[in-house]
Amino acid sequence: MKKHSLAALIGASLLAIPVLAQAQSSVDTSANEKIVVAHRGASGYLPEHTLPAKAMAYAMKPDYIEQDVVMTKDDKLVVLHDHYLDRVTNVAEVFPERARKDGRYYAIDFTLAEIKQLSVTEGFNLKDGKQVQGFPERYPMWQSDFKVPTLEEEIEMIQGLNKTLGYDIGIYPEIKAPWFHRHEGKDISQAVLKVLKQYGYTSKASKVYLQTFDFNELKRIHDELMPAMGMDVKLVQLMAYTDWNETMIYNDQGQAQPYNYDWMFANGGMEVIAKYADGIGPWKPMVVSDKSTKGNIKLTGLVKAAHAQGMQVHPYTFRSDTGRIPAYANDFSDMLDIFYNTANVDGVFTDFPDKAVNFLDAK
Ligand code: G3P
Ligand code: CA
Repeated sequence: MKKHSLAALIGASLLAIPVLAQAQSSVDTSANEKIVVAHRGASGYLPEHTLPAKAMAYAMKPDYIEQDVVMTKDDKLVVLHDHYLDRVTNVAEVFPERARKDGRYYAIDFTLAEIKQLSVTEGFNLKDGKQVQGFPERYPMWQSDFKVPTLEEEIEMIQGLNKTLGYDIGIYPEIKAPWFHRHEGKDISQAVLKVLKQYGYTSKASKVYLQTFDFNELKRIHDELMPAMGMDVKLVQLMAYTDWNETMIYNDQGQAQPYNYDWMFANGGMEVIAKYADGIGPWKPMVVSDKSTKGNIKLTGLVKAAHAQGMQVHPYTFRSDTGRIPAYANDFSDMLDIFYNTANVDGVFTDFPDKAVNFLDAK
């Protein structure tokens, strides 16, 4: 099942959690406790994960700004959504011989100095050898000059702005594909925690959520890495469907098999996650069924189940681009209303943080 495929979503999966049409969660968070996470920065307006996109997001006053984090060949942490460089940079032009057999250019095969030579653009896909912009209405490809930032550079900018503007905007780093990094001999989680500690993010009170799709790594962070480093930051378990191949497990023969996420959607799943995490990050249809229609919103029960275990719920990803509003919502604002108020989520990841901030402010 792919992210865009609506079929079979909640039906079979939330599975043992009863679908609670129109039901409200037992935990009632008031509007001013609800948060906005700037997803990859103000990525609806400027190329994702660039410092300008983060500065623009900052000015929109979200509660948190997200960083997807991957590791370089020389063990530096860079802010990049994919563990490949080819969707958002000119790596194929600058280093044409450096693709792996699958045709992808892996960040882990490049030093930071090499990555800093690349230009970043609005994301694209290759179709018949041509670059086709993923979101055609967004910032034009290859205009101006953007670079891949390090995690440290981005944290320093956000903390610097917190000082100059006096806000207290947090960070929301995601450890990307820890299973892949560890298979390549890199302990990305330990490296990320080290940077968080260096910049003062050490406790539950710190303005940080640390997220990952990899449950085994989340447990390791909770049980081993953080205690060893004297840390205890808020953790979020991201949720996926097994056939997205978001998380893989290597068997003894070194073959990668998809991690099975089914248990997270079954009875008792939230109870298990809550032993390690402070919140969950589900895909939107895991919260509001795509079988919903206007005026008949069908909640899956996931928010209620997570709240019953004391966890926050921050679904992804809220986009106002053409074709990205579900059929059950009138417009972007209505979609926010359905999630914040009917489904009672605690926050949203959005490429358009200004719109979500304005929505919450208006309430
Ligand atoms: O981390 C929340 C959300 O960003 C998950 O989706 O693929 O954009 O990292 P993705
Ligand atoms: Ca992410």
